[in-house]
Amino acid sequence: MPEHQWNDAERAALREDALRYIIPHFASNAELAKGPKIFVRGEGCYVWDLEGRKYFDSFATLLTTVTGHVRPEVTEAVRQQMQTLEFFPNYVDAFTVPLIELARKLAEIMPGDLSVSFFVNSGSEANETALKMARQYHVERGEKHRFKFIARRDSYHATTLGAGAVTGLRWFREYFEPLMPGALFVRAARERDKPAGMTSAEYGQQCLDEIERLIADEGSETIAGFIMDPLPGSNTGYPLPPEGYLQGVREICDRYGILLIFDEVQTGFGHTGRWFFCEHYGVTPDIMTIGKGFTGGFIPLGAAVTKPQVAEVFRRGPGTELRSGSTYGGHTVACAATLANIGIIEREGLLENARVQGEYLKARMDEMRARHAIVGGASGIGLLWALQLDVDPALGVGTWIRDWCHEHGMILRNNGDILVLAPSLIITREECDLMLGLIEDAVTEASAHYGLT
Ligand SMILES: Cc1ncc(COP(=O)(O)O)c(C=O)c1O
Repeated sequence: MPEHQWNDAERAALREDALRYIIPHFASNAELAKGPKIFVRGEGCYVWDLEGRKYFDSFATLLTTVTGHVRPEVTEAVRQQMQTLEFFPNYVDAFTVPLIELARKLAEIMPGDLSVSFFVNSGSEANETALKMARQYHVERGEKHRFKFIARRDSYHATTLGAGAVTGLRWFREYFEPLMPGALFVRAARERDKPAGMTSAEYGQQCLDEIERLIADEGSETIAGFIMDPLPGSNTGYPLPPEGYLQGVREICDRYGILLIFDEVQTGFGHTGRWFFCEHYGVTPDIMTIGKGFTGGFIPLGAAVTKPQVAEVFRRGPGTELRSGSTYGGHTVACAATLANIGIIEREGLLENARVQGEYLKARMDEMRARHAIVGGASGIGLLWALQLDVDPALGVGTWIRDWCHEHGMILRNNGDILVLAPSLIITREECDLMLGLIEDAVTEASAHYGLT
């Protein structure tokens, strides 16, 4: 298809109307004041803006485009489905073929016996559903008083009012309180917070003891679930858990009849080098929530996937059904696109690519640390990396580097002085070099700019 060309007047009108008619998600008035960024085309790991400038996207389009932009296989799957049956809702007793095929596929690739899916439109809704599943699971089993959730500080699960209530980052909650009652917070349990002189396993045990104390204080019979992002996301720099922690959480939940929910919306579908982060630790939750890379960014879709033992309570007969639903959850064309996306991950060996390129990135970031005073350690796994800058946060060096990269053709996500590197799983060695080369140039420039050498 020939590319549309916009003239100056059309471009100016698009910029003006973007600001006039749209409130962006997580809007930044400071950034908007510099003018909106409008993107018009994508291919592989690259996107182009309205002015025709090309960018390497080191954040995989908000962690979604795991197989890259504009994949003909997906376009074809969507076209075929559009021409056959674009949509029928997964409603009461109705299913579609792509929906069933996708559920089958999930049962095959999800860890343990996670095999029964409730489809939604986003990661946020997946988490809302997981909370509701856990609450109703206990109601159906005669334990109505189990309504509380343990969650972790600094976590992110959604901006909606339910999953927002168990989001640990205060910024997302503070204007909307009181939220859903019963959210209890424990520390995030990050290896990097381990006090000097303590082993990883000892620190893991300290974090587990805190959970045990909370459960004892609150009464285990009041707790429905424990929701966590087993690898906290880009907001807090992919901190790995201490030794034995995830296994210990699993054991505690089993002991007290608490359902364990892993939010793998950000970490699922290959970004850690395996289908799911929890597989690195051999721990399977009772419910897993997925979104983002699940669909590869092609069409929104999310799911809460549970075990037959949990799903069984909603299938005991009339009146026990899960009381949740939406019109478009499990949209037919979204399922077709998602199946095609998963097919690409499998055919192209992208989990392996994430592992191989990830190791290369880590080695190169360690080298960079030796060369630059302001570069600190890198935390993460696979293709999810956070590079910490050792600088005074008041200087705004991370944002300066992000803007420098933008000017030089790369989209980079920073959270203060954490630089996030989470490219698409199709990234090549040359693209790793391109991405790190730009970061290193930006670091050199920033060091000179701030006099930090
Ligand atoms: C860990 C985690 N959970 C849930 C969500 C919410 O997903 P969505 O924005 O697709 O609704 C996100 C999104 O950033 C996330 O990173």
